[in-house]
Amino acid sequence: MADRSIHWNDVYTTKPHDAVSWYAPHLEDSLALIEALDPGRRASVVDIGGGESTLVDDLLASGRRGLAVLDISEAAIGFSRRRLGEKAGLVDWHVADVTRHDFGGRTFDIWHDRAVFHFLTDPRDRAAYVDLVKRSVAPGGHVVMATFGPNGPLECSDLEVVRYDDRGLHDQFGDRFDLLGSRLIEHVTPRGTTQQFLYCWCRVDPRREPA
Ligand SMILES: C[S@@+](CC[C@H](N)C(=O)[O-])C[C@H]1O[C@@H](n2cnc3c(N)ncnc32)[C@H](O)[C@@H]1O
Repeated sequence: MADRSIHWNDVYTTKPHDAVSWYAPHLEDSLALIEALDPGRRASVVDIGGGESTLVDDLLASGRRGLAVLDISEAAIGFSRRRLGEKAGLVDWHVADVTRHDFGGRTFDIWHDRAVFHFLTDPRDRAAYVDLVKRSVAPGGHVVMATFGPNGPLECSDLEVVRYDDRGLHDQFGDRFDLLGSRLIEHVTPRGTTQQFLYCWCRVDPRREPA
C-alpha cells in the first residue's frame, strides 16, 4: 500500500479546514459520549485520526488532561497545534499510521476514533488496529468508534470505505470488548448533504486476559 500520508497531507494542504465533508465545528456526539462515560473528567483520552477537528480543544476546555492525538497527516497535526497555541503543550501529538504505531506501553482510559477505521479496507490493517487498541486501552477503559453506518457513503475523500452496523463493527473487535451501546446519526456536510454515521461504544473487559 502506498504511503497513505501523501494522500492525507494533500487533502489538508489543498482544502480549507471547514470544507472537508467530515467537518463539524464541534464533535458534539463524541463529546457527549465521552462525558457520559467519564463524568468525573479524569480519564485520559486518545483521539485517533483527530485530523483538524476541535475535539481536543473542547476536551481541554472542559478541564481534561492526559490527552493525546494521533494522525497520519503532519499537516493536520500542525494545524491543530497552531490553533491551540500554548495549550498544544498540554497534549501528546503523534504523527503516525495507526496500523503501524505503538504507544510504547502507555495506556489510555478512552480511545476515540471518528471516521478513521472505516478507511481500513485490508483485513490485516484492521487486525493491526485492533491489536493496538488491545495494547493501548487500560482494562476497564472505553472505546468510542464512529464509522459510516449501513446506509453511509461508499467512499470518502476519493478512498473506498467499509460501512458497518453495530454487530459488524463489534465483530471486528471481539469478545474482550463489551458493547455498551450504539447509535446512528446523520452528519450534515458543509455542502448540506447528509451522511449516516454509526457510533458504537464499548468497554474493555478487565477480567479477560489480553489476547
Ligand atoms: C475523515 S478524517 C476525520 C478527522 C477527524 N477524526 C474528524 O472527525 O474530524 C480521517 C482522518 O484520519 C486520518 N487517517 C487516515 N488514515 C489514517 C491512518 N492509517 N492512521 C492515522 N490516521 C489516519 C486522516 O489524516 C484524517 O485526519
